Amino acid sequence: MFKIGFSLLLLATLSYGSAPEAAPELNQKYHDSSSCKSCHMPIVKQWSTSYHAKSHYGSDEYLRASMDYVKRKTRKPINAVKVQCAVCHNPRIAVTETGIDYQIAAVMKLDKGSEVNKAVASDALAEGINCLVCHNIDKVHDGLPPEKRGIHRISWNPVGVMSGPFEDANSPYHKTQYRDFFGKDSKKLCFVCHANDRSETGLVFANTKDEYKETTKQCADCHMSPKREGVASTLATENGKAKKRMVREHRFAGAHTTSMWEGALSLVGKKEGNKLKLTLVNENPHNIPTGFGARELLIDIVYQSGSAVVESKQISLTQHYTDKRGKDTIPHLAVEATKNLSIPANSERTFAVDIPKGVGNAVVTVSYRLVNDRIRKLLKLKEKQWGEKKFITKANIRF
Ligand code: HEC
Ligand code: HEC
Ligand code: HEC
Ligand code: HEC
Ligand code: HEC
Repeated sequence: MFKIGFSLLLLATLSYGSAPEAAPELNQKYHDSSSCKSCHMPIVKQWSTSYHAKSHYGSDEYLRASMDYVKRKTRKPINAVKVQCAVCHNPRIAVTETGIDYQIAAVMKLDKGSEVNKAVASDALAEGINCLVCHNIDKVHDGLPPEKRGIHRISWNPVGVMSGPFEDANSPYHKTQYRDFFGKDSKKLCFVCHANDRSETGLVFANTKDEYKETTKQCADCHMSPKREGVASTLATENGKAKKRMVREHRFAGAHTTSMWEGALSLVGKKEGNKLKLTLVNENPHNIPTGFGARELLIDIVYQSGSAVVESKQISLTQHYTDKRGKDTIPHLAVEATKNLSIPANSERTFAVDIPKGVGNAVVTVSYRLVNDRIRKLLKLKEKQWGEKKFITKANIRF
């Protein structure tokens, strides 16, 4: 009994204690998605429209503004912040940590030519989460503590070995290896990063893994596409033709895509006494909204008498984040958050509001915003998309 316990403990210490493995350095043959175009063009095109492709300081205004804000408030060098966020946003980075030595060097402007600066400037990062992130993963270490995510949770294949969903794939350009986390267990791959996103003080503000309720649908069914007949590679390998396969599209569509929102929730409204009870029903296997902090649902209620508007009201379902002095801040620097008001997976939430006197009906519209008012103001976000309302559903409730 004692022996088993002891060896388990030893194993655990060994695997928790090991330093994260930096990704092997890429070469010209396997550099970025352009190295894959000649045989996987449709996939490269689909992926390039996704926010995985925009996961980089230079490509996503919100990400950039958040990194700059962390730098200002913590007085860390910007490259130290970039390395910290790279754990999930730019996993091909060649360094995994910056110590106090680097921070001192940076303050004294002695960091030019340092390993950290070279790693951050590498153009292999500019594509964010690209083919050579997901398909170069050898193992996903599922048993690690929940805060170990991104590059801390995986080990890498040698450059030039592509892991994928097929046991019989054969490519003249690269080696191939079957891994179950591309097929029946692909959520294991997604949860490398889509879980336990936490602030500097350990407040977890996004956790799709924790919210998830098992269903028959896979993440890939909704976020890539259902499986359909096509080709994995356009290279003619079978008697002058490309091999036919059941494949998915690499869209990774999510919160930024308007069509993902339409019908994502349904709305039931009814009058009870002088209250209007509104129930939002979520049939998806994770909360809506899931993911990044400061996302927002809006319920707009317009009370009417005939066609005349009597009164209107807006309910905001979002979370606000505060620092140790109780001031507004971004999720990454938060010590505290207000209550999570998202609609739980495979479940529903009901809100009750007063019905004003003398009204005949209420037109209720539910919509979504990527970033709530406070954070848009705090970060001075300029692009229109962060504050735009995306339509989810609407109902006209007669009293
Ligand atoms: C010269 C053509 C060619 C190039 C360039 C190429 N591949 Fe492939 N790849 C193939 C062929 C052929 C297959 C096998 C297709 C099949 O069996 O249906 C394949 C299969 C794959 C698979 C599936 C592996 C499996 O075991 O399921 C992945 C993943 C993949 N390639 C990724 C990449 C990435 C990433 C790049 C760019 C770094 C790339 N490929 C560049 C030809 C190529
Ligand atoms: C976020 C992770 C991720 C990224 C980034 C990614 N893939 Fe995939 N890829 C997957 C998953 C998951 C599957 C398995 C889908 C399935 O069939 O269930 C897959 C499947 C494939 C396949 C086999 C064909 C298929 O549809 O099943 C090829 C080839 C491939 N990917 C190439 C690429 C190339 C080229 C890129 C870069 C443009 C890329 N992938 C980027 C996750 C990723
Ligand atoms: C290496 C880490 C990593 C892995 C693995 C990963 N993701 Fe992501 N994903 C991210 C990051 C980081 C973003 C946000 C990028 C940004 O907005 O700048 C993101 C964004 C998304 C989005 C939001 C897109 C939008 O428009 O709002 C979806 C959906 C998504 N990922 C689905 C998946 C699925 C499905 C898988 C598994 C097949 C997966 N991801 C695997 C890190 C990852
Ligand atoms: C039945 C379809 C369905 C399945 C299955 C599903 N999702 Fe989603 N997901 C949605 C819808 C609809 C949205 C858009 C609403 C939103 O962003 O909350 C979404 C949004 C997202 C986002 C964007 C969040 C943001 O704020 O940027 C991520 C990340 C995500 N899903 C990850 C996953 C992962 C990981 C899995 C598997 C464990 C998964 N989803 C399974 C329907 C689905
Ligand atoms: C544990 C992995 C992880 C780490 C570390 C991480 N992120 Fe993210 N981040 C994600 C994932 C996954 C998403 C995808 C969307 C979602 O779930 O809403 C995301 C999304 C975002 C978004 C929303 C982007 C958009 O287009 O809407 C911002 C902003 C962001 N992260 C900032 C940061 C900053 C700043 C850091 C470093 C201080 C950081 N992240 C570190 C996983 C991580």
